Amino acid sequence: MARRRRSDEAGNPEYQRGDPMPIIEVDGLVKRFGEVEAVRGVSFEVREGEIFGFLGPNGAGKSTTIKILATLLLPTAGTARLAGFDVVRQPNQVRRAIGMVFQDPSLDDRLTAEQNLRFHAMLYGVPGDVARRRMDELLEMVELADRRGAKVRTFSGGMRRRLEIARGLLHSPRVLFLDEPTVGLDPQTRSRIWEYVRDLRQREGVTVFMTTHYLDEAEHCDRIAIIDHGRIVALDTPAALKSRVGGDVITIVTPDPQALAEGLRRRFGEDNVRVTGPRQVVVERDAGAEFVPRAVAAFPGLVEAVTVRQPTLDDVFLKLTGRAIRDEEASAVDRMRMSARFHGRVRR
Ligand SMILES: Nc1ncnc2c1ncn2[C@@H]1O[C@H](COP(=O)(O)OP(=O)(O)OP(=O)(O)O)[C@@H](O)[C@H]1O
Ligand SMILES: [Mg+2]
Repeated sequence: MARRRRSDEAGNPEYQRGDPMPIIEVDGLVKRFGEVEAVRGVSFEVREGEIFGFLGPNGAGKSTTIKILATLLLPTAGTARLAGFDVVRQPNQVRRAIGMVFQDPSLDDRLTAEQNLRFHAMLYGVPGDVARRRMDELLEMVELADRRGAKVRTFSGGMRRRLEIARGLLHSPRVLFLDEPTVGLDPQTRSRIWEYVRDLRQREGVTVFMTTHYLDEAEHCDRIAIIDHGRIVALDTPAALKSRVGGDVITIVTPDPQALAEGLRRRFGEDNVRVTGPRQVVVERDAGAEFVPRAVAAFPGLVEAVTVRQPTLDDVFLKLTGRAIRDEEASAVDRMRMSARFHGRVRR
């Protein structure tokens, strides 16, 4: 991976040595909004060049944490450092080191793609010739070069998102924050955006910090923090997180889940038997395929249908919190958000 170490860049000199120092260090971060404790003592580190994700349901505190790291909100307690700079005491240095793609769209749709980018370059003091070169390169990357002169108003949701990503990268930040970068986009566009993100990391060594409630997207991250009610409940690689769910996940449809769950525990001594619905029992164990015929034979009439699958991050979340982050829930929220965006444009 190409790691960028530019000596002209304002940064903690410690980072120039190519050591494994984290680029983001968060310690005991707390944020209260009146009665609401949105972030409740969060600590973690992100290494340079990592794709790091926050996965959690609505209201978990993902955007609040990102906003504190991006110097847009002050923490109530705790500390956070980015590229060696304190987000409270050195906000200007932090801002120069980061790019940001917000959860809500923030382009000016009366301007063209190019005008939006030029405006951003001006705000960040990127010299004209550098900005032009960078703009060409980024518009090419997000496949908008041929639409650079068109007003953003005429762009689809996916095109706007791609332009926002290009804008976030224009001043060559060391860390790019992406808050729900793909929410409300179709699966094809979502996977294209992931290609850009990986490509970027490859080409520029940029560190990517993103949030999502799409479980499949969290799989693209090198490491994920699962966040719930303002706390990190687990932090690891997707594979390691999934290995916390013992073996295979066996879902059994049954007319009497309580009776089946009790029977399974008695007969097989299972710790990992859970009733997960009015007609559903879930068993986690190794060698699921061998277990199924034994369970069917042991409980005639109680097993109507069985599926065996590898654990997903949803299983991990369920195991850790007792609740599911369901994709249906996420899509319902997306629809609401998209509709709020559509109808609420004057508020921006
Ligand atoms: N400016 C604010 N004033 C008051 N409460 C806030 C404010 N911003 C966030 N909150 C509350 O803090 C909690 C965490 O919100 P946050 O936006 O960080 O969640 P999130 O994980 O990003 O959720 P989502 O997936 O919906 O984007 C929620 O209970 C929210 O209502
Ligand atoms: Mg959010």
